[in-house]
Order: sequence, then structure tokens, then C-alpha cells
Amino acid sequence: MSNAVIEPSTESEESMPEDHSEPLAAGGAPRGELVPRSIKETPDVVMLTQRSSVAAERFRRLKTRLVNESKNDERVLSITSAAPDEGKSFVSLNLSMAFGAENPSTLLIDADLRRPSIQRWITPTPTIGLTELMTDQVELDHVLFPMQNSQTTILPAGGTPSDPTALLSSSKFAKLVEELRNRFDWILIDTPPVVLFSDADAVSANCDGVLLVVRAGRTPKPMFKQAIGSLTSAPVVGTVINDVTFNLPDRQSHYSGYYNWYYYEDRKK
Ligand SMILES: Nc1ncnc2c1ncn2[C@@H]1O[C@H](COP(=O)(O)OP(=O)(O)OP(=O)(O)O)[C@@H](O)[C@H]1O
Ligand SMILES: [Mg+2]
Repeated sequence: MSNAVIEPSTESEESMPEDHSEPLAAGGAPRGELVPRSIKETPDVVMLTQRSSVAAERFRRLKTRLVNESKNDERVLSITSAAPDEGKSFVSLNLSMAFGAENPSTLLIDADLRRPSIQRWITPTPTIGLTELMTDQVELDHVLFPMQNSQTTILPAGGTPSDPTALLSSSKFAKLVEELRNRFDWILIDTPPVVLFSDADAVSANCDGVLLVVRAGRTPKPMFKQAIGSLTSAPVVGTVINDVTFNLPDRQSHYSGYYNWYYYEDRKK
């Protein structure tokens, strides 16, 4: 795995539509979900603070789809997006809580060693994690923490290593994921943006599938396509169109047919 930094595309800045008033394209991703904009000031844990919100319901539904459609050993998923700030950590956190609510054998790994964000859901906030584990400073059991008010376990990022891509591309990381497979039923892995760094693809080489997050109205379409092209190590098993603004319930049915994405067709070309 190279450590190359890929420049974002400079093609048209047209972004993924915000209101989804038109179908994005023909073809269909195997699984997809629209997650609406959270109206709370601190939206990160909608699974706890807004349990009956549409967003929480969408996370539960996505979890159910992934459980129902996964084959026996497809239990390790990475979560990424094309660019920064699209909601990778928001989706990782809430989806892992949806899994954890029904299956306590759920692990969320923060493999975004560049901009880690998951550790703040552990009390007290740890300063050790994946980096220290991979550099033999701590044992695995020392970096598995319970998420507050949740049944999900977290392996936080810890410190930032000098070369995150090398660490995540190593056979040692692959062995760690194998070991964790034996300990947990479901593992979700938060990663950096795939168009900027090869970390997400390196992580995905040890995963059964990738969930690709898109921020409605923000992710440029060419960058989305570039993200698809950069993910070579595992299949994209679903998309999450995050931060969608629409008024439910009136228009819920109107949008329900628009989960399909053009990229699946693109991949066949
Ligand atoms: N559906 C949503 N509704 C409201 N706020 C959201 C939503 N999704 C994400 N956010 C907010 O957007 C910001 C960026 O989200 P997040 O940190 O999950 O993105 P990220 O892709 O993980 O970013 P990074 O590339 O830095 O890791 C956060 O403040 C988060 O609370
Ligand atoms: Mg993040």
C-alpha cells in the first residue's frame, strides 16, 4: 500500500443534491440509507439523545439491513467518505450504537489516526489507543473501553503516529483485526477521507466491506466518483447520504425510492 496523498479532483464543483428531489441516477447500490440533518446543537449521539428521531431510526434500519444481508463472515466494515467533515465519525458512532443496542459484542475502532474523534465518548477520556497498541506500548485489553451509556466497546485512536498509513497497512494491523474478529461479532472502523489519504483503503483491505458516507449538498460529484475509484481493497456495500434536509413524514414516501446510486452502474463500466 503506498503512502501517497491523492489530490482532490478539480473537476466540476457540482455537489450531491441536498433535497433529493430528483433520482441521483439509475442502478442500485446493494444497500443505502438517507440520514437527515440533526436539529440538536450537539448532534453526535442521536442514538442516545434523540432516540425516536428519524436519524436514529435510519441508523437502526441501516443496521438491520447490514445484519440481514451480510453473509456469515461479513462482520467487519470500514466507514469512510471522500472528503473531511462529511459525517464519517457521526455515522460510525451512531451505527455502532445501533449494533451495540442489540448485540453487546460490537466494537468501534477509531482508525482515523489523523483527526481522531471517538475517544471523547469514553469517560475518562483515554490518551492511549490503536497507536500505542500497534507500537507495543500497551496490551489489547488496556485499550478496549466501554462507550458511555452504551453497550458498544471502543478501541480509540490514541496518539498520532508519524506515518499512519504505514501503521494501518502493516501485517500487524491485519493480525489485530483477525484477533478482534474472534472476540467481537461486529466491528466498525472509522477512517480518514479516502480521496486525501490511502489510510481508508489500507484499513479496508482487512474488512468485508466499506460504507461510503456522502454529505448532501456538499460532496462534489467528481470527488464522490474519485472516492469510489480509490477504494480498491474491499467492496462498497452501502452508502449513507448524510445530513439530508427534508420534512418528514409528508415526503418520506416520496424519497424512499431514491436510495439508489449511479456508482454501481459506473463500477460495471
Ligand atoms: N446529520 C447530521 N446532522 C447534524 N450535524 C451533523 C450531521 N452529520 C455530521 N454532523 C456534524 O458535522 C461535523 C462533522 O462530522 P464528523 O466529525 O462526523 O465528520 P467526519 O467526516 O468524521 O470528519 P473528519 O474528516 O474530520 O473525520 C460534526 O460537528 C458533526 O456533529
Ligand atoms: Mg471523523
